[in-house]
Amino acid sequence: MASLPIKKLPNSVLRKKARAVGEVTDAERKTLADMAETMYLNNGVGLAAQQVGIDKQLAVVDAGDGLMKMINPCIVKREGTVSQEEGCLSVPELSVKVKRSAKITAEFLNENGEVLRITADGLLARVIQHELDHLNGKLIVDYLGPLRKLFAKKNRP
Ligand code: NI
Repeated sequence: MASLPIKKLPNSVLRKKARAVGEVTDAERKTLADMAETMYLNNGVGLAAQQVGIDKQLAVVDAGDGLMKMINPCIVKREGTVSQEEGCLSVPELSVKVKRSAKITAEFLNENGEVLRITADGLLARVIQHELDHLNGKLIVDYLGPLRKLFAKKNRP
């Protein structure tokens, strides 16, 4: 395992829609292991592949209940909404209130290529939705209102 440098805004890789993984191989397993190490080293609760410069639908999540490695994740059911402040390792020193589904059911492949389905609420549901946004090239800055967006741009180094 190796920890990887985290890509930050305005790196264009963060805006790419990640490619779906066709077959789960040792390359994906190695990337997921490196991503997990990178997430823990940076005290994150989730990390998507674009954040380490990789154009594949891979994400790791640990919202306190253990590590999950997700390949080609998608949300198949949503219930309710809840707004809460979020941060992102690729957008340092910014927190944005984001409205998300309160409860979700997600499907994904695990690192053995098996289809898994989980239902989550609370922080886990939020983190999964945040990482799915990353895989679609979407970032927390996209949820800012117009005034705060202007302010955030002005103050970006
Ligand atoms: Ni993020």
